[in-house]
Amino acid sequence: MIKPHGADQLKPLFVYDEARREALLEEAHSLPSIVISSAAAANAVMLGGGYFTPLEGYMNLADSMSVAQSLQTTDGLFWPVPIVNIVDDVSAIEGASRIALRDPNVEGNPVLAIMDVDAIEPVSPEQLKGMAEQIFATADPKHPGVATFTALGGYMLSGPIEVLNFSYFQTDFPDTFRTAVEIRNEIKERGWDKVVAFQTRNPMHRAHEELCRMAMEDLGTDGILIHMLLGKLKPGDIPADVRDASIRKMVEVYFEPNTVMVTGYGFDMLYAGPREAVLHAIFRQNCGCSHLIVGRDHAGVGDYYGAFDAQTIFDERVPEGALEIDIYNADHTAYSRKLNKVVMMKDAPDHGKDDFVLLSGTKVREMLGKGIAPPVEFSRPEVARILMDYYQIVDGKQ
Ligand code: ADX
Repeated sequence: MIKPHGADQLKPLFVYDEARREALLEEAHSLPSIVISSAAAANAVMLGGGYFTPLEGYMNLADSMSVAQSLQTTDGLFWPVPIVNIVDDVSAIEGASRIALRDPNVEGNPVLAIMDVDAIEPVSPEQLKGMAEQIFATADPKHPGVATFTALGGYMLSGPIEVLNFSYFQTDFPDTFRTAVEIRNEIKERGWDKVVAFQTRNPMHRAHEELCRMAMEDLGTDGILIHMLLGKLKPGDIPADVRDASIRKMVEVYFEPNTVMVTGYGFDMLYAGPREAVLHAIFRQNCGCSHLIVGRDHAGVGDYYGAFDAQTIFDERVPEGALEIDIYNADHTAYSRKLNKVVMMKDAPDHGKDDFVLLSGTKVREMLGKGIAPPVEFSRPEVARILMDYYQIVDGKQ
């Protein structure tokens, strides 16, 4: 099986030993504590589950700036996005060497992790903006990822952590949330060797479904990991439980049994396009996948990235041998009226725009909100039903 990134073994930072976890929870009562940002909590969940192997905690300022600029830590580890814990008020933890990190996303702010503090460094708005520009390829405050990153605060807390739970992900998505450790184990149990991962934050329409099928066939995989983001999204994106239900239905009706694992991970969407695609590749390698699908505008938002920038970054910014996972590059995929099937547009050079069934996200939402199912060439009826039910409730409330 493919090796984890930068290590022989996964390094989940969750404390699996129950007695030790109990003892740490007890200790946490007497430690100075701080409520962290949702982004830092999501980083803790990813570190806990082994997704961010080989990292052992939050990066310091020098590593963060080095990663933002040159995709590597000061020690030379290849990494595309700073994994940080930035807060705006450190008065509660000043001078402390060991602190409890509290979860902003769960009622009562329970302790999520314990951290040994290596450093508390001031980080200026200019430094945050500079890093944002490198990570997101823009400093536009209207970009949702830039807006979140630049508003995190003025102090960077770095150091190793021990993670004590998986926040709301395990309780809210018990059937879908899985750690990298669990996914690796399940792939092994299934006896799969070649596994392609499909990243998604959206419900899956025909184009996505067929893209998965094409990748499986072209690569000759044993199976596919449909791996959805379960964390925070920008307003207007479809919530995880609705997506989960529609994806599960599609897999149940339209995929061969035992060829698909439907799972999710606990992370907030960055909308960092190419840089996020590289992070996606790293943590799918950590899950034991041999390939990752990267299609059109992967992890993008608005018009900030070129449609295939998330593919070219692997040629331009990822040094030879830095990753073991391979990328399956997908062209824009759509249903062809001429061929009566979903194709990659590059494979249909004789087609004009009208030969494809293309609907904008806004148009689809409008239809679903009115209880009109998009054409079956665009969306499976079972998927459309679930989405119509959701949009009619949401739009009815507005
Ligand atoms: S993402 O932010 O998680 O990347 P989304 O769930 O929309 O967004 O996309 C999941 C994957 O499918 C990404 O790799 C994306 O590039 C790809 N994709 C989505 N729609 C298309 C399409 N029409 N053609 C080709 N690839 C696509």
